[in-house]
Amino acid sequence: MAAMAGAGRRVVFFPFPFQGHFNPVMRLAGALHARGLAITVFHTEIRAPDPADYPADYHLVSVPVEVSPELMASEDVAGIVMAMNASSEAAFRDRLAALLGGGVRCLITDTAWYSAKAVARDLGVPALSVMTASAASFRVYMAYPTLVDKGYLPVTEENKDDPVEELPPYLARDLIRHDTSRLEHFAELLRLMVAEARQSSGLIVHTLADMEAPNLDQIREDMSIPVFAVAPLNKLAPPAKASLYGEVQADRQCLVWLDKREPGSVLYVSFGSLAGMDPREFLELAWGLALSKRPFLWVVRPKLIRGFESGELPDGVQEAVGDRGMIVSWAPQEEVLAHPAVGAFFTHSGWNSTMEAIPEGVPMICHPLHGDQFGNARYVCNVWKVGVELEGNQLERGKIKAAVEKIMDSEEGQQIRERMNGFKIGAEKAIKEGGSSLMELIKLVDLIKSF
Ligand code: UDX
Repeated sequence: MAAMAGAGRRVVFFPFPFQGHFNPVMRLAGALHARGLAITVFHTEIRAPDPADYPADYHLVSVPVEVSPELMASEDVAGIVMAMNASSEAAFRDRLAALLGGGVRCLITDTAWYSAKAVARDLGVPALSVMTASAASFRVYMAYPTLVDKGYLPVTEENKDDPVEELPPYLARDLIRHDTSRLEHFAELLRLMVAEARQSSGLIVHTLADMEAPNLDQIREDMSIPVFAVAPLNKLAPPAKASLYGEVQADRQCLVWLDKREPGSVLYVSFGSLAGMDPREFLELAWGLALSKRPFLWVVRPKLIRGFESGELPDGVQEAVGDRGMIVSWAPQEEVLAHPAVGAFFTHSGWNSTMEAIPEGVPMICHPLHGDQFGNARYVCNVWKVGVELEGNQLERGKIKAAVEKIMDSEEGQQIRERMNGFKIGAEKAIKEGGSSLMELIKLVDLIKSF
């Protein structure tokens, strides 16, 4: 390896290879690199990052994982994560051991990589854990066995509206669910993740201290390790060169299209990198957007519509969209949310999307689909009150139209916008000198240098 800047202060990152996990961890790497630390990125061969997208002195190391194509294509998240951990462990150990003596200060890795943290401990390398979702979600991870014991999980028709006493303001239906037949398996995965995080040298949560203070306090009380709240990571890191491993290249034409729209007039519609929907629901969404009579920019990923993986649109969609909307396969989302033409964000409430909308002051219509998204939507709509939740589980054109009108035209929408502006100002302060996120980042750098 050639001599590199800050090589005596090297941090090894190991991001988890799902977009919503990969992006924040790579942004944290960018933020630490900008503060003089040398970066090695261990990455899986599945979805390897393109070196051209990163600083030339990043040292990229590939770690093989083996997950069968059937499992990878399934919805068995626990199975996939456990298979990745088990199959990468030996190679990870070899690669980390090979770097010892070369100035490696610590490993920073996703909570999902529990086996990597165990290996680091074994090799005497301090490890820090990154929670890429909210502090509230981490509390769900910690409480999972209790939630199962107390009957909040699995979520059923009978218990779905029960308030979760241990985790207000959640109702049972806001909790992170998993296929009922494999719930124990999922609970075991979370147990492993939390156990390794507890034994690590610190937990970094991608959240704003002001927005999640009670949850952060609770985590600090429960874990005897330093806990850092550092967000929004896209604002603390230098801008990414490309959409971080977009499945497809971001379509920059949509920014030109937005330039021609009135300020605050456009609804941006995106459901993140994983979600899928049925063609019928998709058509309903198209009609809902058309009926709302607002210009809209809509991300339709190749795999978004089940059965239409090659990217064509179901019959009737183009007719509904007309010339009011623009459809792209992948958008430069941060730039879109920062564009003055964007007035609201119709989102699945993925945590990164939420953390990207807040610093731009864009209010949200929330349509959570799985995982932590239900809980995120609960906070957005009921705690921070910076969005509205789409009624019902199913997309219906009338309800979509009503939600768009509420957020973009009503008195309530105006109040939501004003509150959102307060959070935007809060996020801007957090990353400036003396701000909570910047101070926590500096503390984190100090901790790393002390290893
Ligand atoms: C998943 C979960 O849904 C999320 O709740 C969890 O916290 C992390 O894993 P995902 O569904 O991909 O993530 O959603 P989200 O967390 O919002 O991340 C999507 C990322 O893709 C964002 O960083 C967003 O900017 C980016 N994106 C999305 C684009 O760059 N362009 C697009 O067109 C769409």
